[in-house]
Amino acid sequence: MAPIIRLERITKDFVEGTQTRTVLRGVSAEFEAGHFVAVRGRSGSGKSTLLNLIAGIDRPTSGEIHIDEVCVTGLNERERTLFRRDNLGFIFQFFNLIPTLTVLENVTLPAELAGRGTRQVSSALQLLDQVGLADRRHVFPDKLSGGEQQRVAIARALAQNPRLVLADEPTGNLDDRTGDAIMQLLDQMTRQRGKTLVMVTHSRQMAALADDIYELHSGELARVTHESLAATD
Ligand SMILES: Nc1ncnc2c1ncn2[C@@H]1O[C@H](COP(=O)(O)OP(=O)(O)O)[C@@H](O)[C@H]1O
Ligand SMILES: [Mg+2]
Repeated sequence: MAPIIRLERITKDFVEGTQTRTVLRGVSAEFEAGHFVAVRGRSGSGKSTLLNLIAGIDRPTSGEIHIDEVCVTGLNERERTLFRRDNLGFIFQFFNLIPTLTVLENVTLPAELAGRGTRQVSSALQLLDQVGLADRRHVFPDKLSGGEQQRVAIARALAQNPRLVLADEPTGNLDDRTGDAIMQLLDQMTRQRGKTLVMVTHSRQMAALADDIYELHSGELARVTHESLAATD
């Protein structure tokens, strides 16, 4: 299988006043297409930073990121926004639904922003049906439980049928049982449909569900086996 994501010597520094904090120190890796890849690390280890770089939300201090044949680090901000819109789905710990839009409107929003409008309502309804929330389509997010909000967020991330889905601690704000159900759903909606899922998490238990596991520690990314994951500190 070919890699879908190539990270080449990625460095990320944050400058605050006179202080420079190096969060990523020459990270290189290749993530395989169609796999579920987990990056595990403690809070503050740089997981969100790495995911935001892959998504083109932020830019590295040095190094290159390739997604398929596209060098995303070579794109300007507008090109990165379009690339993200057309190729990626993103899922957040705190769901990030728009509170003034209904469940259905949250899911059709990406298509509307892409200028594909109302033709997408039927596919949004189909997605909501697949995540078990078709009957809640007209309610607002604050009427939903955390698990239900994350289901909507999963449907929204898939609205443009992206090949690649990025998830930042998608179960971090859910109780264990709800988290397990969300992971099952996420896997079913991504990897089991041939999509690539890259998830960052502090949870060893969630990381263990992935095909390929990496640990982010002291700014370095290392591939680990399922067996050694359990043994790390
Ligand atoms: N925009 C920013 N400006 C300055 N420092 C940042 C910024 N974003 C993240 N950091 C710092 O980078 C480190 C890694 O943060 P983050 O990627 O959010 O970690 P994680 O997601 O693993 O908890 C932290 O020390 C954090 O304070
Ligand atoms: Mg984070």
